[in-house]
Amino acid sequence: MVSAATPPPRIEVSDLRVAYGSKEVIHGISFDVRSHEILGVIGPAQSGKSSLLRCLNRTLELVPGAQMSGTVRVDGEDVSRMRDVHALRRKIGMVAPLPVGLPLTIWDNVAFAPRCAGMSDRHELDALVERCLRQAALWDEVKDRLDSLGTAISGGQQQRLTIARALSHQPEVLCLDEFSIAIDPVTTMRIEDVLKELKQEISIVLVTNLTQQARRLADRTMFMLNGRVVEIDRNEVVFSPRPGNRQTFDYVNGAFG
Ligand SMILES: Nc1ncnc2c1ncn2[C@@H]1O[C@H](COP(=O)(O)OP(=O)(O)O)[C@@H](O)[C@H]1O
Ligand SMILES: [Mg+2]
Repeated sequence: MVSAATPPPRIEVSDLRVAYGSKEVIHGISFDVRSHEILGVIGPAQSGKSSLLRCLNRTLELVPGAQMSGTVRVDGEDVSRMRDVHALRRKIGMVAPLPVGLPLTIWDNVAFAPRCAGMSDRHELDALVERCLRQAALWDEVKDRLDSLGTAISGGQQQRLTIARALSHQPEVLCLDEFSIAIDPVTTMRIEDVLKELKQEISIVLVTNLTQQARRLADRTMFMLNGRVVEIDRNEVVFSPRPGNRQTFDYVNGAFG
């Protein structure tokens, strides 16, 4: 029974399978994402981490030949039955490994989606752009050059701009896929601080190739291997000397991967 003190999960995934053509790469996994948590997802390359994220906001269906089965529920609603897939994609924001700067000004990068959604009041848009850039810890660095091209700033700044853009949709869950792969450690730490702040408001799914990043940031961590979940538990367990599974211990301690 779910007690009044335990809010229902934001996302519930059950028996999820993913195949590209005839090759199944996720073999029936189940887990949930809770309110105001950072769920770390770790595992070697090719474990199915990115494929899993694509199922949460139905971007898997944009990949020719890809299929999924099982259920993904967001706030209790089966995503496969949602008619408005764009609303789902706004709700479940995605940040890709490499920054994807639109060839627009910094201001337009953030205001683009809200304008497409019909927001037209300049003051409202200015306020939203400032809020998202502040949340992404980028405001102080770009506030005097909001008219510069979003592609003309450093890689680390572009990755924060990508986060600001994802936040402009006011997502309820933000998924990040190896966000720090192309940025320096100082920027990575700044973004990690951003994520800790954001967790007060939204849920975060943090797919990371850096096991220590999940250890630092996540409340719970899920360890994936070859399309299966080896273990999902609170960080105190996953990163302890005695996690639930020996393979988790070996991976976390660098024995493979
Ligand atoms: N677009 C695609 N088409 C065909 N196979 C894919 C595609 N994307 C991923 N795969 C395969 O799915 C498996 C899992 O990949 P992926 O989800 O990218 O794992 P990870 O993010 O953990 O590295 C791999 O074997 C990969 O080759
Ligand atoms: Mg990946």
